[in-house]
Amino acid sequence: MTPSSPPLGVGVLGLHEGRTLLVGLNTPIPATVGTAGETAYRSPHARAVAGCDMNPDKLAAAEHDAPGLYYTADYDALLARSDVDIVAIYTPDPMHGEHIERAFRAGKHVICTKPLVNSVDDAKRILTAARETGMKLLVGQSTRFFEPFRRQRAAFERGDVGTVELADAHYNHRMDWYYDKSPWAATDSDWVYLGMSHPLDLLRWYCGPIDTVHAVGTRSALGRKYNVASNDLYTVNVVGKDGTLGRALGHYGLHELPSARNAIELMLYGSEGSSLAQYHDMRYLHTGPDGAEIKEDYLYEKRGYYFNNEVHGMHYGEFSNYADHFAAALLHGTPHAPGLVEGLETFCLMEAVRRSAETGAVVRVDDIVGLIGLTEAERASVA
Ligand SMILES: NC(=O)c1ccc[n+]([C@@H]2O[C@H](COP(=O)([O-])OP(=O)(O)OC[C@H]3O[C@@H](n4cnc5c(N)ncnc54)[C@H](O)[C@@H]3O)[C@@H](O)[C@H]2O)c1
Repeated sequence: MTPSSPPLGVGVLGLHEGRTLLVGLNTPIPATVGTAGETAYRSPHARAVAGCDMNPDKLAAAEHDAPGLYYTADYDALLARSDVDIVAIYTPDPMHGEHIERAFRAGKHVICTKPLVNSVDDAKRILTAARETGMKLLVGQSTRFFEPFRRQRAAFERGDVGTVELADAHYNHRMDWYYDKSPWAATDSDWVYLGMSHPLDLLRWYCGPIDTVHAVGTRSALGRKYNVASNDLYTVNVVGKDGTLGRALGHYGLHELPSARNAIELMLYGSEGSSLAQYHDMRYLHTGPDGAEIKEDYLYEKRGYYFNNEVHGMHYGEFSNYADHFAAALLHGTPHAPGLVEGLETFCLMEAVRRSAETGAVVRVDDIVGLIGLTEAERASVA
């Protein structure tokens, strides 16, 4: 395809969190500082064409917020449409494996929200379906695509922090509201997948393939109150294959101290400098060449793009950014990340954390990689 190819059509399955992608792609960026009067959309390479949810209330809400698209309660009807090039999946974690396989076998490329899958069986299932169909996948790791994390990455790639010696990431969020909204979160997933997919993906991004994991976990009082099946508090130490150290924290039963820490943070300690990226504030802090701290705050400039001007609202910008990144890669044959193999490696990291916290043992990630059957050639394709 050529640079002037028309944008690819995106059909979204699961219209609670998935509604955000439809609205993000379908509505102009609200005017903020420096953009007054301009009408611009977030993605030149992807356009919303369809939405699917079996809950009629979710369908109606999405149709209200992103009108003029095709809406259905039947996933097969979405998969049958020729204008859907990419299926974007936002169903509950334990359903991702089935929904990805059905999309691949219908000849669709896939964006799957985090976590990609939450079981070894589903990891094997989607790897087999990808090999047999040749279809491509992007994991919707939204944090990577949020402004401060993009800038932190660009600076890292320029060499500003030198060699990363320790990456320190967390995602902490009080979750009683989520159990009320989505009861499956208490019974059919594990916070190592549901929540820690954010910080563990960030460690995989900066530490490279992980060698060993040592984790501990417990259930908070709030988790016990909601009969949460898994731990909802984990602390994790990892060692990358190249020796880089990583540390991750996930706490989902906390009493928040709103101004103390951001929900998601990534601190890089490098040989040449340090940097910190934050969500949901939109700050990126780093050391300049003279050692002074530089604080970049994009909240006012970018609040329309990322939050539709609802300060600290939904993920309109991040989701649109990754859809655009993936569609551009499909149109122009450029790389995309995190793709299927990197996503499966991060699945193995999450599963290693779960097993380490369960047994108290240090777990080698390659032992899980061996269970799902990723080949060395497939792993070598990840930068
Ligand atoms: N930052 C992020 O990227 C982010 C944030 C929140 C949630 N998530 C992920 O998004 C996914 C969905 O989370 P949520 O909070 O929207 O959950 P939810 O329970 O609120 O919504 C899931 C929706 O999927 C629909 N659904 C389920 N099976 C279906 C089927 N077979 N056909 C049609 N519709 C179906 C349900 O009706 C429901 O509306 C989860 O995997 C979650 O981990 C990602």
